[in-house]
Amino acid sequence: MIGVSKPKIVVTRRWPRAAESALREDFDVVLNESDRPFTESELKKALESADAVLPTVTDRISRELIEGCEPRATILANYGVGHSHIDLEAARERGISVTNTPDVLSECTADLAMTMMLMLARRTSEGERQVRTGSWPGWCPTHLLGTRVSGKTLGIIGFGRIGQEVAKRAHYGFGMRIVVYNRSPIPKSALEACGAKSAPSIEALLTQSDFVSLHCPGGGANRYLIGAEELNHMKPSAYLINTARGEVIDENALVNALWFETIAGAGLDVYETEPQVSDRLRSCDNVILLPHLGSATQETRAAMGFRVIQNLKAFFAGARPQDLVA
Ligand code: 8YV
Repeated sequence: MIGVSKPKIVVTRRWPRAAESALREDFDVVLNESDRPFTESELKKALESADAVLPTVTDRISRELIEGCEPRATILANYGVGHSHIDLEAARERGISVTNTPDVLSECTADLAMTMMLMLARRTSEGERQVRTGSWPGWCPTHLLGTRVSGKTLGIIGFGRIGQEVAKRAHYGFGMRIVVYNRSPIPKSALEACGAKSAPSIEALLTQSDFVSLHCPGGGANRYLIGAEELNHMKPSAYLINTARGEVIDENALVNALWFETIAGAGLDVYETEPQVSDRLRSCDNVILLPHLGSATQETRAAMGFRVIQNLKAFFAGARPQDLVA
């Protein structure tokens, strides 16, 4: 146990049981029994009544919210690696630390990007729709011909931990040529580990890639990184995959590209206005739509909880948490 009395923490969504139990060993835990996303006033109440709040991607912790409350909380220990739903600057100004959960979800998120790449290439959603609706005309040599993945070029935008896991899988598993673009310089060893080449610009990456997978952070800096102009640089035979954040793609421009088939298709796990997905997007046949499943495995979701606990323990022991982002 840390100190005399346990720090009080509010967990905004339910976690896997093992992680919730571990949390109780060191903290006075308040759970959101309903597991509905908190309203703004519930978030305010949490910030004002607990020593720590443990949010997720479904909690928007804006500057207005942070400035409009008298926080007792001194740490937001986010359950997830992405933190574009939290205004880091406002938190910093209010003396609230913020941590996230990198590493533990890299492999599973990379697996999901690969899943969508294969599904797109092999037109599995179209095929399944035919079987389920009884409209499969039967085998023939030209039925639902997809595209080969082996030997093709994969462009990865954002070459952090998740991007590197995708590159390894695609290069060593499928013999793909890997081209990457990253805002900050990439260590030579990271490129060499998966035979990757660095592209000088996003445009250079887009024009040569057969598949493009996004692994950069969300937030203001990357909002609409992929818009109409970028989509125009993609090959008409290329596919776009997004397991990063919805705001990275201008969804309207993407719908136009899908509708007019200026690209071959897209695989999306994240959306601009989650969980709402536009009717226009849902009406496109050449898109795979998943419900934000990137890290959704039992092992990873538990590991994310344990990672939050490590951060909290360090913080309340007066040490620097390993995943401090603000
Ligand atoms: C999480 C994610 O499920 O960690 C992230 O950034 O996108 C997902 O894997 C979600 O964010 C939990 O808060």
